[in-house]
Amino acid sequence: MSRTRTQVGIVGAGPAGLTLGHLLHVEGIDTVILEDRSREHVEARVRAGVLEQGTVDLLVETGAGERLRREGLVHHGIELQFAGERHRIPLSDLTGGRSIVIYGQTEVVKDLIRLRLDSGRPLHFEVADVSVHDLETQAPLIRYRHEGRDEELECDAIAGCDGFHGICRPSIPAGVLSEFSREYPFGWLGILAAVAPSNEELVYAHHERGFALLSLRSPELGRLYVQCRPDEDLAEWPDERIWEELHTRLGLEGWTLAEGPILERGVTGMRSYVCEPMRYGRLFLAGDAAHIVPPTGAKGLNLALHDVRLLAEAFVEWFRTGRTAGLDAYSDTCLRRVWRAEHFSWWMTRMLHRAEDEDAFDLKLQLSQLRYVTTSPAAAASLAENYVGLENV
Ligand code: FAD
Ligand code: PHB
Repeated sequence: MSRTRTQVGIVGAGPAGLTLGHLLHVEGIDTVILEDRSREHVEARVRAGVLEQGTVDLLVETGAGERLRREGLVHHGIELQFAGERHRIPLSDLTGGRSIVIYGQTEVVKDLIRLRLDSGRPLHFEVADVSVHDLETQAPLIRYRHEGRDEELECDAIAGCDGFHGICRPSIPAGVLSEFSREYPFGWLGILAAVAPSNEELVYAHHERGFALLSLRSPELGRLYVQCRPDEDLAEWPDERIWEELHTRLGLEGWTLAEGPILERGVTGMRSYVCEPMRYGRLFLAGDAAHIVPPTGAKGLNLALHDVRLLAEAFVEWFRTGRTAGLDAYSDTCLRRVWRAEHFSWWMTRMLHRAEDEDAFDLKLQLSQLRYVTTSPAAAASLAENYVGLENV
């Protein structure tokens, strides 16, 4: 057994853990990042693709956005499709010039891992049996196995950035957390395809057969989704069926969806979840470890980075001055933005998906809502400011 010390022990090398490690490194604060999967696995996990302006600014301003600035695709609008027509929501016009950037989560993660390795600070992949202890004391501890050895890491604080299925949140004693959640009776089947995107901007499509989304990763890579069952068996979805469904749901007179070889595919369940508070003693939860949203609002990664920005600022204040005001306010401050994103993601999801238990009345409400957000500048502005990320929440 060997025992080491650090200021902040970070569990999880997803976007939250890696960004927190980076922000603290820039401020000269010592961290150890522990990840239970391999580097290859973490770098290949295709997930988010839409970065809010605030997320981009954070990465660029702290020196993690060099490739993002070169390769990220700036988008000024999105399209909503329903009843056989597409309607553009001009995001930038409606938000005083703000925009989103298309840059894959895989690329954000690769950039952050490279920076971390260059910094020389520890980032251990393929650790096993991670557990957190003594959370209500001044010296919380992380135990884990790495390269066949049992390790103990003594910390001033622990950051639980280990995602929705991690071990940090379940380590908080029963009765401390309040949990809020919603399951949706559908999922998304997502593909990455080697094909130039058939539309310049994202298309969110409402269709009687279910939702579909046309997105992209680069000028040569398309990212597309169709609504499916939450437990959908991929074996029942040969390539032809996926494309057929995409053609049906995204199709428009005079427009064709280009096909290409499918490079990656997967099914994601949809859930909303929040736990409160995002802290227990010296354990601070951030990102998906504390809250998840259905992907329809493109908010998960952005919320994760917002959490760790606040957490890093609070740690800096604490280590420099001993003041705990930032740490004490951390959970409440994060949760304000979290709940705004929870509502927006739930609202977008409800507006765009078809559920089996919904009737003709629900359908009429969805279509009315879609017509409203695409014709009323006030309603469109509300969607737009939430989508690009509110500034003062
Ligand atoms: P994670 O990315 O889950 O990282 C947690 C890390 O902890 C993982 O690397 C995991 O291996 C590790 N870990 C888990 N348990 C342990 C343990 N016991 N010990 C050590 N390490 C552990 N968000 C957006 O903002 N925009 C989008 O467009 C978008 N689209 C999405 C599309 C899909 C299909 C999906 C699935 C998600 C999407 N999201 C999107 C959500 C986004 O991917 C997540 O919110 C984001 O990954 C959260 O980052 P995180 O670091 O908090 O958690
Ligand atoms: C994506 O490109 O993966 C993506 C885009 C928008 C969303 C969700 C996912 O709302």
